Amino acid sequence: MLERRIAITALVFLLALTAVIGLSVKMFGVGLPTCLTDVRPFREGTVIEQAPKRYEIHYVARMWKFEPPDVNIAPGSTADIYLSSADVTHGVQIVGTNFNLMAVPGAVNYARVKFDKAGDYRVVCNEYCGTAHHNMAGVIHVTEQAAAPPAPAPQPVSGGMAALEKNGCTACHSTDGSAQIGPTFKGLFGSKRPLANGQTVVADENYIRESIEHPEAKVVKGFEPNMPQMPVSPAEEQAIIEFLKTLK
Ligand code: CUA
Repeated sequence: MLERRIAITALVFLLALTAVIGLSVKMFGVGLPTCLTDVRPFREGTVIEQAPKRYEIHYVARMWKFEPPDVNIAPGSTADIYLSSADVTHGVQIVGTNFNLMAVPGAVNYARVKFDKAGDYRVVCNEYCGTAHHNMAGVIHVTEQAAAPPAPAPQPVSGGMAALEKNGCTACHSTDGSAQIGPTFKGLFGSKRPLANGQTVVADENYIRESIEHPEAKVVKGFEPNMPQMPVSPAEEQAIIEFLKTLK
């Protein structure tokens, strides 16, 4: 009987406390703490180049990887490394340096590391954190290439139409069948093209590539040979070809 009374008392207390929390949220606008993993340092890793050879690396450890998994920096760099965990406690060591810190959920740990020598520095977990603990690793590539200014990112070509617009093709070529300064793109792919020189060719992939790269090579009958040569990338050419195939 005593146990039952204790159990009931505990339950009553529990319900009362829950009710108090619920009431204070509702009536007094008390904010409940939310999950820490929603906060940026616990959600995504980043590498920030603050100046030449000065980096800020934000590592997020999570079962069972590091974010970012690969970091590229130049030899002689100093890195301010901020470490957090998105789930459980991990132990993080950068092999070849004296960096050895715990990644603790809800906390950010910090150390500064100078990477003098080029090489690949392995980032490993040295605190058991679950079944794939031994696979948890990242790498910091310290290379001269990382010192070079980043190459301009190639323009992603989402679609052939975007490539046509980007290169100004649509100024002279319609996609709806109407002839403008140049022939329309509608129904072009696979069709027979009567040329100004009297020949006839089939508009296959090679024809389109040639017409983009050497506009004067095969001029369609009835049109002036005045198409400019545009710097269309191979990826753009392919996207344009795929797009023209759809313009039946
Ligand atoms: Cu993470 Cu072991």
